[in-house]
Amino acid sequence: MIAPVPSPLSLRPALARIAQDVDRHFDLLLTVPDDPRKRLYEAMRHAAIGGGKRLRPLLVMAACELFNVDRARASRVALAIECMHVYSLVHDDMPCMDDDDLRRGRPTVHKAFDEATAVLAGDSLHALAFEVVADPETHPDPFVRAELSLELARAAGPAGMAGGQMMDLIAETTTFDLQTVTRLQQLKTGALIGFCLEAGAIMGHVPPEGRTRLRGYARDIGLAFQIADDLLDVEGDEALAGKALGKDQAAGKATFVSLLGVERAKRQAALLVDQAIAHLAAFGSEADLLRAIAHYIVERDR
Ligand code: IPE
Ligand code: IPE
Ligand code: MG
Ligand code: MG
Ligand code: MG
Repeated sequence: MIAPVPSPLSLRPALARIAQDVDRHFDLLLTVPDDPRKRLYEAMRHAAIGGGKRLRPLLVMAACELFNVDRARASRVALAIECMHVYSLVHDDMPCMDDDDLRRGRPTVHKAFDEATAVLAGDSLHALAFEVVADPETHPDPFVRAELSLELARAAGPAGMAGGQMMDLIAETTTFDLQTVTRLQQLKTGALIGFCLEAGAIMGHVPPEGRTRLRGYARDIGLAFQIADDLLDVEGDEALAGKALGKDQAAGKATFVSLLGVERAKRQAALLVDQAIAHLAAFGSEADLLRAIAHYIVERDR
């Protein structure tokens, strides 16, 4: 899609490592019980294990790298945000929302199981995100755990992802202007991405007034990420994406691409990547992973 810009660092090993980490963690956490809840655990495993780019977990790790946060602690928060993200995907795919049959190259949860199980698997992953964050094993400092929980709740709720999802549904029947679509994307996708960076600062004991640059980076890559998703929806390859494409236009949904057209949307995404990286100017090589992620977000083909 967007002309590849050479990344300052190869992301592949970092993505592979975090993917392995997340899968191993989910496997341990989601041991299937030998009782009638078995179906629920199996549905959660189906949704959570072995797929996805694991971009949000990687962002948590990269943000934690800036402040030398212990890797084991960081990887628990990385797991929590992936729980939240996977829950959002399970519900997003349901017939009452986007009605999709394929996700991460596999049948969606309501297809592989049933709708009621998909609701419960999503609910459980949502709860699990908070359970992981609030567990003393994640951080010994209760203030850190409380702040992580608060920010995660804000990012997922009506002033964050869920609010954005509501706007996204309304966008099918209402013509939103660019400003409203920007707001929609910031909530729907930007809020959970924003949490990943915020989490690094929280665990690194950076006070809120010291987080401005990181928040600027998060805002820009969050928007760029959703523009890339909307571009993939128009000109991506379904086999690579592992999900049905061409859905936004079919639903008559206002997106950056429908409002700006493909070329301007691409330019806007590229501009946002440059702007995101500019926010990291004060950091040295410890921010190279974040810089590489910013490039990857618009270069990706899935
Ligand atoms: C898809 O997110 C949903 C959006 C927020 C656009 P990703 O593109 O990160 O999906 P996975 O996790 O790689 O499957
Ligand atoms: C989903 O956005 C965003 C969330 C799940 C919060 P989309 O509906 O555009 O995601 P895809 O295209 O189905 O992955
Ligand atoms: Mg959707
Ligand atoms: Mg969808
Ligand atoms: Mg999409």
